[in-house]
Amino acid sequence: MARKIVITSGKGGVGKTTVTANLGVQLAKSGYRVIVCDLDFGLNNIDVVLGVENLSTFDVVDAVEGRCRPKQALVRHPRYPTLYSLASNRISDRYVSPQAVRLILDTLSPQYDFILIDSPAGIDEGFHRAVACAEEALLVTTPHISAMRDASRVAGMLKSYRLSRVGLVVNMVRNDLVRRGEILTPEEISDALKVPLTAIVPEEDRIFLDNVTDRFRPFRLLAGFYTGSRPMAAQEPKKKSFWSGLVGALHR
Ligand SMILES: Nc1ncnc2c1ncn2[C@@H]1O[C@H](COP(=O)(O)OP(=O)(O)O)[C@@H](O)[C@H]1O
Ligand SMILES: [Mg+2]
Repeated sequence: MARKIVITSGKGGVGKTTVTANLGVQLAKSGYRVIVCDLDFGLNNIDVVLGVENLSTFDVVDAVEGRCRPKQALVRHPRYPTLYSLASNRISDRYVSPQAVRLILDTLSPQYDFILIDSPAGIDEGFHRAVACAEEALLVTTPHISAMRDASRVAGMLKSYRLSRVGLVVNMVRNDLVRRGEILTPEEISDALKVPLTAIVPEEDRIFLDNVTDRFRPFRLLAGFYTGSRPMAAQEPKKKSFWSGLVGALHR
């Protein structure tokens, strides 16, 4: 059965789709069978980020409404043969129940190792639908106050779901600002949100021109966390040495 992980944030534009797509690529590169499922109805873009937007005939709503079988809605990535995209619908005001989407993912689950669920910003129906389909969550925030406030609300809401694990990705970290003490460190953000730190991703304009990248170390480390080859970041014993060690690791 696939592990179903929802990537969520509260605020938009903090990197949910980037994290989802890149985690999917890294897991697939390690040979895992991965579905990247876009549940951000209306603002769907994970197929674009993965470069497969012209390859899908059906989307997840077609599967829910019976116009195709669940498998027919999957698009196999031309470059990563164990990576599949399940596109979302372009219509945002369509009512699709969480149970219906869950059923589709449960049908697909036995043949895959991971189902990564990209979710919409906000905490309304679309958030609920995405989280209700998952067993684990990854909360993405940037070090900006507005993003952290929204992440804090989401962290609180995630407690009301039966999730086996919630992790934190602090994205768009500028190490120069961290070193000068001008922004909170990822550790401090993790403490404030009371969510264990899973990954730190620096701000990297050059890398993200392509959106999906093979070579970016933080996403390799994040995938390693999910495949068990790397322990959870927050379990490291000494806070200070842990952070200074990671600063080095962030530079490829
Ligand atoms: N670590 C990063 N460094 C630089 N740009 C990033 C980083 N993470 C995401 N971005 C960029 O920020 C924008 C928003 O990211 P996206 O993943 O679409 O956010 P969300 O899905 O949360 O709305 C995109 O243009 C993306 O390429
Ligand atoms: Mg997005």
